[in-house]
Order: sequence, then C-alpha cells, then structure tokens
Amino acid sequence: MPLVTSKEMFKKAYEGGYAIGAFNVNNMEIIQGITEAAKEENAPLILQVSSGARNYAKHVYLMKLIEAAIEDTNLPICVHLDHGDTFELCKSCIDGGFTSVMIDGSHHSFEDNIKLTKQVVEYAHAHGVVVEGELGRLAGVEDAVNVSEADSSYTDPAQVVEFVEKTGVDSLAIAIGTSHGAYKFKPGQKPQLRFDILEKVEKQLPGFPIVLHGASSVIPEFVEIINANGGKMPDAIGIPESMLRQAAKSAVCKINIDSDLRLAMTASIRQYFNEHPDHFDPRQYLKPARANIKALVKNKLINVLGCNGKA
Ligand code: G3H
Ligand code: 13P
Ligand code: ZN
Repeated sequence: MPLVTSKEMFKKAYEGGYAIGAFNVNNMEIIQGITEAAKEENAPLILQVSSGARNYAKHVYLMKLIEAAIEDTNLPICVHLDHGDTFELCKSCIDGGFTSVMIDGSHHSFEDNIKLTKQVVEYAHAHGVVVEGELGRLAGVEDAVNVSEADSSYTDPAQVVEFVEKTGVDSLAIAIGTSHGAYKFKPGQKPQLRFDILEKVEKQLPGFPIVLHGASSVIPEFVEIINANGGKMPDAIGIPESMLRQAAKSAVCKINIDSDLRLAMTASIRQYFNEHPDHFDPRQYLKPARANIKALVKNKLINVLGCNGKA
C-alpha cells in the first residue's frame, strides 16, 4: 500500500459520521506506538509532521520511518505537514513526498491568507497533494509561537465559502474554542466549544471536510503520574472526550492530537525512572513509553474518533 492523500479518507469519514486521527510524530517510538494501535484497530491514519519535528528528526528520517510503518501495517496512511507557514516549506514537503500539507495563513489578513493559500494549492494540486487551510486563530503554543487568548479569534462562518472557493483548499481548519498545548482552559473554567459556529460552517459548506486542531483531552491520569513522579505541571485542562465524539460525528473529518502523546510518553518515562533509578538503557524506558502511546491511540480510535475498522 503506497502513501495516500486524505481525500478518500475524508469522503468516507464525512459520510460515515466519524473522524480520522491526525497524530503528530517526532521519532520512531511515537510512530510505532501510533501505527501499531491503528493496525490492531484497522484504522486509517494521518501522521503529521510540524516544522519543529522536521528540524528535530530531519525530513528523510521521518519519511523513511513512515514508509516502514506502511510496509509493516499495510494501512492507508497519509503524511501531512502540520502548520506550514510559508510556500517554501510546503513546497519542500511536497517535493519530499508528503501527500498532504497545511498552509496556516491564519496569522495574516483574510486577503493575504487567501493569496498564500491559493499559491500553495496550485503547486500542491499540480503534484497530486491535498491542502488544508485555516480560518480563525487558535490560542496556545505551536512551534514556540505563543498565541495569547486575546490574539485568538473564532472562525467567522460568513467568510468560509469565499475562502474555500478562492483558494481551492481540500479541507478547512476552524477555531471554535480548542487551543494548542496542555493548558486549554483556566483552572475552574468549564471546557466549552462553539458548536454553533461549527453548525453554521457546516451549513455554508455542505459535504466539505472540517479540521479540528488543539484537540487533546489532556488525560488527567497522565498529569497525575507526571506530578507523582517528580513533575511540576500546573492544572492542565483539555477538551472532554464527549465533545470530540460529538465533533467527529459532524463535518469534522480530521482531529489533531499531539499533547496527549507527549503526556503519555513523559508520564511513562518519569514513572519508569522513579521505579528504576539505576537503569540507563533507553530501550528499557522507551518500551513502556511506546506501549503507553499505543494504548492511548487505541482508545482515541475507538472511543473518540470512531474510525476503528474503517481502513
Ligand atoms: O500544533 C502544534 C503541534 O502540537 C506541533 O507542535 O510545533 O512543537 O512540534 P511543535
Ligand atoms: P494539541 O496540543 O491539543 O494536541 O493539538 C495538536 C495540534 O493541533 C497539532 O496541529
Ligand atoms: Zn494545530
């Protein structure tokens, strides 16, 4: 099975009322944990690479690891650039074999976002690659850029048709109250998402795939394990699984998860070292970390995304 784009995946997900998990990858153990879970659950997958991940591991290492995962699992896997911020970065990923790119022009004016996104779409489509655009701006940290709550903004449903028509994007990320990182809501604050905005967008763009970023649930158990084993994380609050399930049944076809993977890995490693302070073989502590990622992803595929058995 070769790498695939997300086109067919999204069509089936839209019609079937489920979503595809887009998991951020940075190294072999993360890729193995995710793909082993998807293999056991027979789930389609998007593995996404941020520019930070690409700088950390190098494009070629991540590509080869993902190719190995495809050979190992025989699953439909799409490899996607997460939060591309320039045409050059998107072009480099397209030329390097990615099947999908995101051009995140959400920090620009509406007009400049359209211009940049259209430029990427033209190049991508000429090379058989699909494009995700973004309208609205999420709060939180991505690639060391911190968008404050004051600078974040919900997607305006009145702009989505013009944006999609003028750019030709294949999917659209919208801002409805999710945010990047582990601190999505303030302590004591009740998590809330603007499902009314999602419904309006859905009405404006019938049949069109919508993407939800910043969708980690920030599993409390992992934060507890981290803090019980020497960590010092302040109160971390994520998106409740029930809300993600609701989103997955709607036009949302892609749900982005990174922070939960980081927490699963860190919790496992901290616990391991607390229990085995004399160990120093990376295989010993990375093995349970990989297993923890696998268990987390299995739960997401079955109970949150509903894409198990859909490969
Ligand atoms: O949205 C951001 C993702 O969590 C990727 O994070 O840019 O630190 O790799 P990163
Ligand atoms: P989280 O930080 O909620 O995992 O979001 C990840 C994301 O949106 C990657 O693009
Ligand atoms: Zn994101």
